[in-house]
Amino acid sequence: SDYLWFEGIPFPQVEYRIENLRSVRDEFVVRDEDVITLSYPKSGTHWVIEIISMIHSKGDSSWVQSVPNWDRSPWIESTAGYERLKNQKGPRLFTSHLPIQLFPKSFFNSKAKAIYINRNPRDVITSGFYYWRTIKHVRNPDTFEQFFEWFLQGNVTFGSWFDHINGWLQMRGKENFMIISYEELHQDIRASVEKISQFLGKKLGPEEFDSVLKNVSFEVMKNNKMSNFSLAPDSFVDHSKGKLMRKGVVGDWKHHFTVAQSETFDKIYKEKMAGLPQGLFPWES
Ligand code: A3P
Repeated sequence: SDYLWFEGIPFPQVEYRIENLRSVRDEFVVRDEDVITLSYPKSGTHWVIEIISMIHSKGDSSWVQSVPNWDRSPWIESTAGYERLKNQKGPRLFTSHLPIQLFPKSFFNSKAKAIYINRNPRDVITSGFYYWRTIKHVRNPDTFEQFFEWFLQGNVTFGSWFDHINGWLQMRGKENFMIISYEELHQDIRASVEKISQFLGKKLGPEEFDSVLKNVSFEVMKNNKMSNFSLAPDSFVDHSKGKLMRKGVVGDWKHHFTVAQSETFDKIYKEKMAGLPQGLFPWES
């Protein structure tokens, strides 16, 4: 099957609707107390949702063990997420893969805190290759080579990675906007969680903090059915084709890219990222 297109961006055919995407952009009211996880898909979104959930519940793991991640921090652009969020009282957590131009306009005049998680795009391609073929209502690639081409063209779910990051990075330096990378989380989860809780203005005691660290580990998340996507409906995902919690490592692209693909990628990366300063991301150094 193919995509649902809205403003030039491809979305899955199921769980998304044009009228809904329009309302999300034009009508949804972001509140100052909201906490938002932003990402291009496969950058570590679920990891950040878990960290934020655990900080929100002050290290008490019963929330992440009893409520699926998409109900703790719903995707605003999904029809179900929007319906749930628009009437929800109190401080809300939510998630979005939307490019900046499709995000709720009201955010840009709010004090809501947003965390933009990013990852080496080479690993985003690799992770995406395995993930998107499990999703029933998107264009499915036959080969890695095919997916690699589509990714470079931006003909993949949620559009071009390059446009996504160039768009959102315009927000860098804003007080309510934090940027963190998958590689940073990997290298030092303790320091990363500390940084995120500081940004959110949440102080945790030492035991609460250790509980956060424990519950956001790859092993624990992989075995938690509320976090590992295994409860996602069969109408949307074919669980026999792969798992969300796949490998959880940095640099798996090296086992997938040919030398030629690596060179092609470097060239396109340089062109498309020319508008941002060098060395902003761990994978550039
Ligand atoms: P891989 O496919 O490379 O294993 P997203 O949540 O944006 O869809 O990203 C999914 C990727 O994040 C997957 O990468 C998944 O394994 C990885 N991931 C999720 N939770 C993680 C964790 N706690 N530690 C390390 N990687 C994690």
